[in-house]
This record gives sequence, structure tokens and C-alpha cells, in this order.
Amino acid sequence: MPGRLPHPGHNPGRASAVKRLGILLLVVVLAGAGAAYWYATRTPSSPFDAAANVGPPTPLDRSEYVARLADCIACHSTSDGAPFAGGLKMGTPLGAIYSTNITPDRETGIGTYTLAQFDNAVRRGVAADGHRLYPAMPFPSYAKMSDADVKALYDYFMTHVQPVKQLNRTSEIRWPLDMRWPLAFWSGIYAGSDPFKPDAGKDELWNRGAYLVEGPGHCGSCHTPRGVAFDEVALDDGSSHYLGGAGLDGWYAPSLRGEQSIGLGRWSEADIVAFLKHGRNAHGVVFGSMTDAYNNSTQFMSDADLAAIAHYLKALPADPSRADRPWAYDAEAARTAAIGTTPAAAGARIFTARCSFCHGQDGRGQGQWLSPLAGTSSALAADSASMVNVVLNGSDRVVSGGVPDAYRMPPFRAQLSDAEIADMLTFVRSAWGNASTPVTADQVKDLRERSRPASSEAIVLQMR
Ligand code: HEC
Ligand code: HEC
Ligand code: HEC
Repeated sequence: MPGRLPHPGHNPGRASAVKRLGILLLVVVLAGAGAAYWYATRTPSSPFDAAANVGPPTPLDRSEYVARLADCIACHSTSDGAPFAGGLKMGTPLGAIYSTNITPDRETGIGTYTLAQFDNAVRRGVAADGHRLYPAMPFPSYAKMSDADVKALYDYFMTHVQPVKQLNRTSEIRWPLDMRWPLAFWSGIYAGSDPFKPDAGKDELWNRGAYLVEGPGHCGSCHTPRGVAFDEVALDDGSSHYLGGAGLDGWYAPSLRGEQSIGLGRWSEADIVAFLKHGRNAHGVVFGSMTDAYNNSTQFMSDADLAAIAHYLKALPADPSRADRPWAYDAEAARTAAIGTTPAAAGARIFTARCSFCHGQDGRGQGQWLSPLAGTSSALAADSASMVNVVLNGSDRVVSGGVPDAYRMPPFRAQLSDAEIADMLTFVRSAWGNASTPVTADQVKDLRERSRPASSEAIVLQMR
């Protein structure tokens, strides 16, 4: 019958073709699901799977040094707990999680971990029982660590850390978001997978610096901006966003690239070394979450390693996508800002009463003891979180070589209202050539609610 095609369902040949196609699709879907399941639950391979690669134990001083470089203590200890017994609460966009017990206790810690299992946890984010770790554990950076350094860490934890019986706390992330297998895909997309490879075109000092910063030092976990999936947008110097400055946990870790205003453009290599070794230099004193990195890690780095880090950081060019006017001191700007009835003028009076005593009416601070506010990155960065936070909460004690700092930034949470802090910081950010964005009372209110006063106690986390 021309013009009338039979209904496909009535054509026996067609029907079996559709059925075959259906079966084929089902097989493909199942195979896909199987492959995905295999991918998400497989144990990655480690160079230490072969027992022959294990080698002799690492001497204590070297293994402890690697643990210092990687700052394992900062997250895996609490100020009132045993070293490496875990339990530190850490915020993630999905809810709070707790760091785990990594002492060699066989029941509650990592005492039964083989070197290959330890390697998979540290460099690939997979625990011994196969579950995936949240990237709050900085395995995307540790992936760059050398085999020798991973082995040194293992020897340190197994031989020199006291086993402590302390159960891990379960995370506060609720079902279904607490399922961990999707993290395998996250890792596949965002985490690094290969150890650091030296760049033959660069000198030895640069390569050592790159290794330390990108690998064990995991500086990017705070200083690199994050993408939609909480991923660091770059893990090495191949991108101009790497170490470009980022907000995390109520602090803003500024750019470590070559920008003249917001970055390290005005710092010399010697300035960087002094900051990481002594916690201070003529540009500033460590504060906020950098205090953790300084107190527990960078001050213990050798002079040679600090020189390498400084050399590498100074070679990172400014991000060309950022407008970058070099900062220059401008005494007139503070006088102009203080005139009239603007918020900045009201703020100038609060500054004189509350802050000038330490930071100087001219904003220049005092030597390397009291930070200058003129030209500091916390004032020039568009993100004002660090300034607001340090004024509300003060700063944790900077402990250098066992000696706590003599001067400390006091908290003003109880003395100043949101509006007063906003006006005063708007003045600071427009005085002395700072020419940055104003601060609003809402920004202060928001941070006031989600931050806490710094501790006035000098906290030094012991490793043994
Ligand atoms: C920035 C914080 C941070 C640092 C630094 C850090 N960790 Fe972790 N680590 C965590 C968190 C949080 C977890 C738990 C993650 C989870 O539950 O998914 C974890 C989990 C682990 C685990 C899995 C343990 C288990 O219970 O099975 C091991 C092993 C581990 N870390 C070792 C280390 C070592 C070794 C270092 C230093 C090289 C280190 N971590 C540095 C935060 C950190
Ligand atoms: C836990 C988060 C965190 C980690 C990890 C971290 N930093 Fe920082 N860093 C900060 C914050 C926040 C600031 C701003 C406060 C300050 O100046 O101390 C900062 C400031 C700095 C500054 C001063 C910049 C300026 O313009 O004032 C330097 C230099 C620096 N960090 C280097 C490093 C290096 C090198 C590493 C890795 C070895 C590192 N940081 C790791 C959070 C961190
Ligand atoms: C008792 C002395 C003292 C007073 C008063 C004081 N500060 Fe500070 N401030 C410090 C010290 C010391 C630091 C360096 C961090 C540390 O060691 O705690 C600091 C750091 C800072 C920083 C971080 C600087 C940087 O490197 O980016 C800012 C911002 C700041 N203070 C603002 C203020 C403001 C605003 C006031 C007035 C409301 C004020 N401070 C009052 C001592 C003081």
C-alpha cells in the first residue's frame, strides 16, 4: 500500500533490530557503570607496590625535616591533644570534617598501613580501606612529592611518632553528600598525579623552590584561587592564576606573584626569606592562617631551602589580567581622606584614637616589629577579609624559635561596632596611597559571625 508504512512494531525484522539495539545499549551502560565503579573503587598503583622499592630506613633528622616541610602537624594535631592524633575540625563547603589519627596505633591510627598504602593516602587521596579522602587533605599538592620524601615520611610516622589510641570523629557531612566514591572522579579531574619533574631549562635553585612550593609546602592550598568544585585552579607555575591570591576560612592569602601592588613585586628574595624564617620583615608580620604555616613549618626550613623558595616565587611573573599600578607612599592622601563628613573621615578619627599608637599616624609602622598599614597587601587587595578579621579578632601568637612575639595585634571585636570598623578600614584603605576598595558594615558583620577571637596563648605543636 503506497503512502502507508507499516507500524514499526508490526515489522518482525525491525522489532528484533530494536531489541538488539536495546540489549547493546544495556551492555554499554552496564559496562560504563562497571568501569565507573571499578574506577571509583580501585586501589591506585604505587611505586612501592614492589617490596624491592622499600629500601633502608631514613635517618631521623631527614625524615622529621620532610614532615616539617609538609606541615602534617598543623592539621593532624590539636593544641590540647597528642601529636598527630587528629581531631582538628575543618570546614568544607559541604560541612565540617575532622582530620584523622595518623599515629602508628594499629587500631585507631595508621599502624597497619604499608608504605604503598601510605603513599596512596598522601599522594593520591585514597585511604588503606579504599575510601577517598576529601581534598582538605592537600594530596593534590603532595602528589608532586618525590618517592624518597614519601618514604622518609612513612619512616618518620612508623618509627618516631608515639602510637596514640584515639578514635577518629565522623564527618558532619550528611547523606547523600557523604558518599565518597564521587571523589575519585574529582581527583581524576583536578588532582595532580605525577611527582615533580625538574624543568631542564631552569637552574637547580629554581627547581628546588618549585618542588618545595608546589609539592610538600602546598602553599597553593591557601594562596591559589579555587574553582566551582573547590579545586585549586592551578597546581603549578604553568598558569598565571597559580598563587594568585585566595580567600579561605575568613582570611585572604595574597598573591605570591610579581604584582607591584597586591603581590610580592616590591619584596626582595631576602625579604621573603626573612618573612618565612623570622615571621617578619619591613613589609609585615605573619598573621591569620599564615601563622600556622610559619609556627609549624616555614621557620624550620633550612636557609638553602628558603632561598630556593624565594628564588622561585620571585620568578613568578605578575598576572597580566590584573590591573597593577605600583603602590607609592602618598602622605597627602591621608589628610584628604580625613576631611569632611565621609565614612573615611569618621574612620580617620577612630584610627588616630585606636591604631596610630602602634601602626603610626603615618601608617608606616615601626621597623619590623609593628606592621606598616601603608602599602601592605591586606590593604591593597580587593578582598578585605584579612584586614577585617585581624581587627575583629587580633592575631594568633607568632612563636619564633620557641619565643612568643612581644607585640601582638589586639582584638577589637568588643570595642568597635561593625560600622566603626568599616569606616576605620575604609580610611586605612584610602590613605597613604593605598587607593583600594571601601569596607562595608555588612562585610564586618558577616565575618564577625563566622570567626572567633585569636588565642592569646603561645601555641607550639610538638612533633614528638
Ligand atoms: C591542610 C590540612 C592537612 C594537612 C597539612 C595534612 N593532612 Fe592528612 N588529612 C587531613 C584531613 C582533613 C584528613 C581526613 C580527610 C577525610 O576524612 O576525607 C586527612 C587524612 C590523612 C590520612 C588518611 C588517614 C586515615 O585515617 O586512613 C593520612 C594517612 C594523612 N592524612 C597523612 C598526612 C600526612 C603524612 C601529612 C603531611 C605530609 C598530612 N596528612 C597533611 C588534613 C591534612
Ligand atoms: C593555611 C593557609 C596558608 C598556607 C598553607 C600558606 N600561607 Fe602564606 N599566607 C596566608 C595568609 C592568610 C597570608 C596573609 C597574612 C600574612 O601576611 O601573614 C599569607 C601571607 C604570606 C606572605 C606575605 C604576603 C604579603 O604580601 O604580605 C608570604 C610571602 C607567604 N604567605 C608565603 C607562603 C609560602 C611560601 C607558603 C608555602 C610554604 C605559604 N605562604 C603557605 C596563608 C597561608
Ligand atoms: C598594641 C599594638 C597594636 C594596636 C593598638 C593595633 N595593632 Fe594592628 N597589628 C599589631 C601587630 C604587632 C601586628 C602584626 C601581627 C601580629 O604580630 O599580631 C598588627 C597587624 C595588623 C594588620 C595586618 C597588617 C598586614 O601586614 O597586612 C592590620 C590590618 C592591623 N594590624 C590593623 C590595625 C588597626 C586598624 C588597628 C586599630 C583598630 C590596629 N591594628 C591596632 C599591633 C597593633
